[in-house]
Amino acid sequence: MNLWLASLVLLAATGSTPVVGLPCEGCEAVFDGLPANPPAIARIAPAGEPGEALRIEGTVRNAKGAAVPGVVVYAYQTDARGIYPRDDTAKTASGARHGRLRGWAKSDARGRYRFDTIRPAGYPDTNVPQHVHMHVIEPGRGTYYLEEMLFTDDPRLTAEQRRLQANGRGGSGLVTPRKDATGAWLVTRDIVLGQAVPGYTP
Ligand SMILES: [Fe+2]
Repeated sequence: MNLWLASLVLLAATGSTPVVGLPCEGCEAVFDGLPANPPAIARIAPAGEPGEALRIEGTVRNAKGAAVPGVVVYAYQTDARGIYPRDDTAKTASGARHGRLRGWAKSDARGRYRFDTIRPAGYPDTNVPQHVHMHVIEPGRGTYYLEEMLFTDDPRLTAEQRRLQANGRGGSGLVTPRKDATGAWLVTRDIVLGQAVPGYTP
């Protein structure tokens, strides 16, 4: 069974069909460790993880701009060395590969979600910029990945990557880091459900 088919079978088994935005490599990981009822405020990196503190916050909206509660946002990232620290407790190969720096937050009544984590690093010895991968689990739509989150202050970020982000999946993943009162990094990543996702009809 190829990966695409395996993903489809697994997604169907979760009862979350119909699915959009396929193929979705590694989508089984989104459900691997998924809490029964994710909080609106969650962690990606655990407290104490080395690195610079980062808060990601945003609002989940539909194409008309209305806030959407009850959407699970899944995120995973590299550590401060640019490595995905392998999670050997994961049940799936893709879950293990996404690593132990991953988390789930469910949008609250006002569509808001938040992750506390650290700033990721770009992959070592490459030009790959800092990024955070994201998916949503949207009721009735299954899961689909969003444009990865990229940081405008990252010197590795190219003009082409910025351009591609403008009409990305789920809205732009470009974020501009700022510091909060405690000196921690703060970014806003709003999500537009279904934007630029193949097969998605409002
Ligand atoms: Fe990555």
